[in-house]
Amino acid sequence: MQKKRMLTGDRPTGPLHLGHYIGSLQNRVKLQETYEQYVMIADGQALTDHFMHPKEIAKHVVELAKDYLSIGINPAQTTILVQSQIPEIAELTLYYLNLVSVSKLERNPTVKYEIAQKGYTSNIPAGFLCYPVNQAADITLFQAEYVPGGSDQLPMIEQTNAIVKRFNKLYNTHILKECQIILSHMPRLVGIDGKAKASKSLGNAISLSDRPEVIKQKVFQMYTDPKHGKVSDPGCIEGNVVFAYLDAFHPDKETVEALKCHYSKGGLGDVTLKNMLNDHLQCLLAPIREKRETLSTHAIREMLYDGNQRARQLASVTMGMVRDAMGIYQ
Ligand code: TRP
Repeated sequence: MQKKRMLTGDRPTGPLHLGHYIGSLQNRVKLQETYEQYVMIADGQALTDHFMHPKEIAKHVVELAKDYLSIGINPAQTTILVQSQIPEIAELTLYYLNLVSVSKLERNPTVKYEIAQKGYTSNIPAGFLCYPVNQAADITLFQAEYVPGGSDQLPMIEQTNAIVKRFNKLYNTHILKECQIILSHMPRLVGIDGKAKASKSLGNAISLSDRPEVIKQKVFQMYTDPKHGKVSDPGCIEGNVVFAYLDAFHPDKETVEALKCHYSKGGLGDVTLKNMLNDHLQCLLAPIREKRETLSTHAIREMLYDGNQRARQLASVTMGMVRDAMGIYQ
């Protein structure tokens, strides 16, 4: 049976961390068995808010690919590609930009939130405002039917499908296919500071590539319960980062429940608890780090070259159909 095609991607802006691991990466290792999986390293999209540092983004491209392979994404099953190396994406974006209004882009909830976070007022870079259109080109160029992602990706899928409908109607064709999100229900992993979600930019995450001593240091920095002064004091579970990580990464739920019970009664110290979590995370991350150490930059670049070649073959087929449907000069 023909496998359904799926596309997903990440911006190469920093090392992937435990939040990505439970939120999307583990899932990709499973999905590559049942779907024809494309994973895009979205360096072009990353530039929409990092255009001042293109060289940094270029470095992260290779590191991101190393993260992928070290957690078990298999380039024989999954096509890993680099967005900037597929010029057809830029061409398709150009055509799609005519099918979307600026006011619609300004109302995109994810973009709106990001604009507020970045403090843009009338100075929003056009490239940033239009990245959902670029993402619509990513998805449709590869004729992906499924796109895994969190709820922040819903507006991107809606925008993609709106463009697809508009294009097909306008140019009287059926060549573009609508796509569907595979919604990730994983709650976001909290950062070690307990304040916000774990994120590359906030520096409050444990990276997949962190050294053992860094992992331990981060575990011991984790926010617990400031009122839990003495070991014998009752401790609070709610908002306690160590328990959030034990919930996410400890394989045995009953053990975690017993620990919570003990902690809230009193008699279980933070140091004991953190040592336990540290042991678990070290066991989880050691094989990932070891795999990473076997991957040379040269081998990664070759692998990406192959992925880009495969991706471009498909891209040129779609672009041929798009130009035909539109009646573009050829
Ligand atoms: N917007 C995604 C993110 O910020 C990255 C991305 C770019 C993407 N192109 C994509 C995701 C296409 C899914 C499909 O993480």
